[in-house]
Amino acid sequence: MLSYRHSFHAGNFADVLKHLVEVAILEYLKKKPKPFCYHDSHAAVGLYRLDSETAQKTGEYEGGIGKLLGHQPQSPVLQRYLQLIAQLNPDGVLTYYPGSPVIARELLRSDDSIQATELHPADFPLLQQQFAGRRHTRIEKMDAYAGFKAMLPPLHKRGLVLIDPPYELKTEYQDLLKGVQSAYQRFPQATYAIWYPVIERASIEAVLDALVATGIRNQLRIELCVAPDSDGFGMTGSGMLVINPPYTLADEMQQLLAEITPLLSATGFYQIEQRVPE
Ligand SMILES: C[S@@+](CC[C@H](N)C(=O)[O-])C[C@H]1O[C@@H](n2cnc3c(N)ncnc32)[C@H](O)[C@@H]1O
Repeated sequence: MLSYRHSFHAGNFADVLKHLVEVAILEYLKKKPKPFCYHDSHAAVGLYRLDSETAQKTGEYEGGIGKLLGHQPQSPVLQRYLQLIAQLNPDGVLTYYPGSPVIARELLRSDDSIQATELHPADFPLLQQQFAGRRHTRIEKMDAYAGFKAMLPPLHKRGLVLIDPPYELKTEYQDLLKGVQSAYQRFPQATYAIWYPVIERASIEAVLDALVATGIRNQLRIELCVAPDSDGFGMTGSGMLVINPPYTLADEMQQLLAEITPLLSATGFYQIEQRVPE
């Protein structure tokens, strides 16, 4: 069952947090001259038109990237992210919003490699088009977790694995836990960034606790909520659980979230928590 289409949600507050964390990690990995690998397990299409029927139908981007337009960024990570969006919209009108694989395509150096998997039959060819002609790139129409077995570890033994499931089915949390462990066994040096929604607090804490129980060291939670926790009638926030984060990430995110949370919501709050030490 693949009914989820990210084009309804592109640029929303959850994308903003996810993509800022992605930018921060990729910029850190670029500090060393040695090439690295970016692996995107649930890549979707890569680039979105915010004037499309789907994006306009929900208008979700207005509560995300829409709230950051015109803001003079202080945080270097926010500056880099907004600069990237400005590059995709050279006429100054917010029309295009980049998905996670296109953010990597724009930030990576030509020797860095990109791997991505996407299952949706309509989204996969659109994703492929975004990478036509790029060297060191492997885009597969494949299940995310089969992709870990087939494609990890990559040639370069450094990198970021971004895991961003749609969580349409309850079983996806179990798949995630198994998938993370299988990827980590193959590629323990990588940084892993796992996106999660906050819909019902106790349920998501149970998933994060199960990740702690895997025994994987060095887990950092970065979470941004735009409304108080509720009883599960919609997403009030989202987070990134980062395994092996760059040592600079917690401080960078502290500065960044203090800056953007009030822009996104008057009742917003955030938390940064080292859940498992190194
Ligand atoms: C939340 S979207 C990804 C958005 C993207 N990471 C971004 O930030 O731009 C989730 C994507 O996962 C795809 N998907 C769902 N189940 C999958 C699976 N088992 N393997 C690979 N892709 C899957 C969906 O078709 C959807 O495009």
